[in-house]
Amino acid sequence: MTHTAWDAFWSALPAEPGAALWDSSPELTAARHLPLFRDRADPLLPLVDLGCGNGRQTQWLADHFPRVVGLDIAESAVALAARTHPAPNVAYRRADLLDHGTAAALHTELGDVNVYMRGVLHQLDQDDRVRLLDSIAVLLGASGLLFAQELTEHTGWYVSELLATGAALPKTAGLAAHFGFGARLAPACEGQLRLLFEKRGFEVVADGDIALHTTENSADGRPLQLPTSYLVARSAADARNTAARTTGARNTAPGTPPHA
Ligand SMILES: C[S@@+](CC[C@H](N)C(=O)[O-])C[C@H]1O[C@@H](n2cnc3c(N)ncnc32)[C@H](O)[C@@H]1O
Repeated sequence: MTHTAWDAFWSALPAEPGAALWDSSPELTAARHLPLFRDRADPLLPLVDLGCGNGRQTQWLADHFPRVVGLDIAESAVALAARTHPAPNVAYRRADLLDHGTAAALHTELGDVNVYMRGVLHQLDQDDRVRLLDSIAVLLGASGLLFAQELTEHTGWYVSELLATGAALPKTAGLAAHFGFGARLAPACEGQLRLLFEKRGFEVVADGDIALHTTENSADGRPLQLPTSYLVARSAADARNTAARTTGARNTAPGTPPHA
């Protein structure tokens, strides 16, 4: 997905909460993620929400970190986030994190940061995924911690099969048509998300399955949940200094849908 496509997506989307398929409430989202990484993170570091979209999760995270910066490639997303999800300790900025100069400038300004990233990697091609990982390593520096939630190949199969049943899922079908979501790119089949980070020198300290709560209802009237993966990691630089640190086993997070 290009900058232009994301900008068009956010410009066309109604501003109300829940308009995007993934725009679930923070209680179902960031609040369930924080316990998966809080104890390992330095709580005094700023937090960067990479690909913050409309800022709904960013604003919630600002209650838990001293300074939060929401970054997004789309000007329209940043403007929407600033308007709809402000907080005294949050700043939103337009930034393309595929650009390593941008990552380096942010690190010079902010120092090491923790990074929260939800649903950004899967829409990039393979080369850009590696570029983004290198930017994340720069942002983390020696002491930051990454939490990422990502769609996987499993998510793609799940969505494809759901749509093939003819289920009335207009948001899901719309995204599938617009982004190739559910049929095209996904970073990982089982275990591949972890491998992607490890190959780039990250120390993965935890990973597992987790539900992505959507804002679309299934035929039974319950909100659709998608099977996705999460990962908690440190940068290569830190990994070198902490070789003895315990590595986590693959876990299943609370709320994982039965099919995950
Ligand atoms: C699926 S949305 C997720 C939004 C938000 N993380 C959430 O969970 O609500 C992915 C976001 O990543 C942003 N994005 C895509 N490529 C990016 C890049 N190279 N740098 C920064 N943001 C990017 C998009 O504009 C979009 O807002």
